[in-house]
Amino acid sequence: MNSKTITCIEDLRQLHKKRVPKAFFDYVDRGSYSEQTLHANRADFENIKLRQRVLVDVSKRSTSTVLLGEVISMPLVLAPVGLGGLQHADGEIHACRAAQAAGIPYTLSIMSICSMEDVAGAVKKPFWFQLSLLKDRGFVKSLVERAIAVKCDAIVLTVDLPVLAQRHADIKNGMTVPPRWTFGKFVDFASKPAWVSSVMRSKRKTFGNLAGQSGNSKMESLAAWMNEQFNTSPTLKDVEWVRNIWPGKLIIKGIGDARDARDVAKIGAHGLVVSNHGGRQLDGGRSTISVLPEIANAVGADLEVLVDGGVRSGQDVMRALALGAKACMIGRAYVHGLGAAGEQGVAKAIDLIRKEFEVTMGLTGVVRVDEIDRRILA
Ligand code: FNR
Repeated sequence: MNSKTITCIEDLRQLHKKRVPKAFFDYVDRGSYSEQTLHANRADFENIKLRQRVLVDVSKRSTSTVLLGEVISMPLVLAPVGLGGLQHADGEIHACRAAQAAGIPYTLSIMSICSMEDVAGAVKKPFWFQLSLLKDRGFVKSLVERAIAVKCDAIVLTVDLPVLAQRHADIKNGMTVPPRWTFGKFVDFASKPAWVSSVMRSKRKTFGNLAGQSGNSKMESLAAWMNEQFNTSPTLKDVEWVRNIWPGKLIIKGIGDARDARDVAKIGAHGLVVSNHGGRQLDGGRSTISVLPEIANAVGADLEVLVDGGVRSGQDVMRALALGAKACMIGRAYVHGLGAAGEQGVAKAIDLIRKEFEVTMGLTGVVRVDEIDRRILA
């Protein structure tokens, strides 16, 4: 990667597209059904206009902030992304290292290729772990115990998958579990020699956190196990159950309505993420940035509100903070970096957003993150 000519997240996206087989790029890039929610997430950010301010001394700016009691270098968190290890060998370790070097939290997905023990053994600081409420509660409990053992900082409990939506591109590409590869796929793979030699030869090929579960060595039975396990429709009681077995910080991810946000605040979660799974679940729904204000209003100071979905720049981070978020999560923005150039690519994605955020602070007349509010919006 020629770092100098990469000037924005879209440049990383183009490089990612070039380097990784089409099925794996599309798995990241695309959304559910007609992709209306996916596009709304972006379009609504672009419609929010910032107010230019001048003649304010902005020579000393700081992007640092406090999130859930921890000082972080900017209001940004890497979101949980399944199968990161398919974008780059040991992808989750690369992403976590880049986040920690940049002083921001990293969230490991339950559906990662590297297990939480793999990541903990390869990085210096604690990270966040994303949990889903699988049917086998004994197994969920064992995941929580493992998260305690590897000293995870927080659990991000994802609740926006009560049923699984469909991504047309994944079906067309055979990107299912187990994958259904055709000859065409292998031609595409052959045109990505660097990816093939690193990812295909990596010793990690399956979902690390699910090791030992039904037939993890055999993809067919793993698929059956996962279909059964993800087919649960969790309720607030289940969230309370996690609250009782996990002593640390709990963040509920996938909130898109003020009523759900109030419920989550009542059961004593520490934070929530306004999220529609990056436009991968409910299609035809509202963008996350458009629902953020009503959710932030509904919960007030009871818990910390994060938002994700469509964040691609430091300007987007400013917009989200102005509308009530404490921090943003990014998914695709960093995974494009990961697919483009591993740890270096993720570091570049974070650095691009940090610089844009810092310049935007200066041009909107603010020097501290806690000064950002609706007044910076036109
Ligand atoms: C996701 N997301 C996700 N969320 C989660 O809680 N667990 C997971 O395993 C995954 N997996 C996943 C894979 C891929 C390829 C993507 C793109 C997303 C959702 C993710 O955490 C986040 O909510 C969105 O990515 C945010 O939208 P942007 O930033 O990608 O637009």
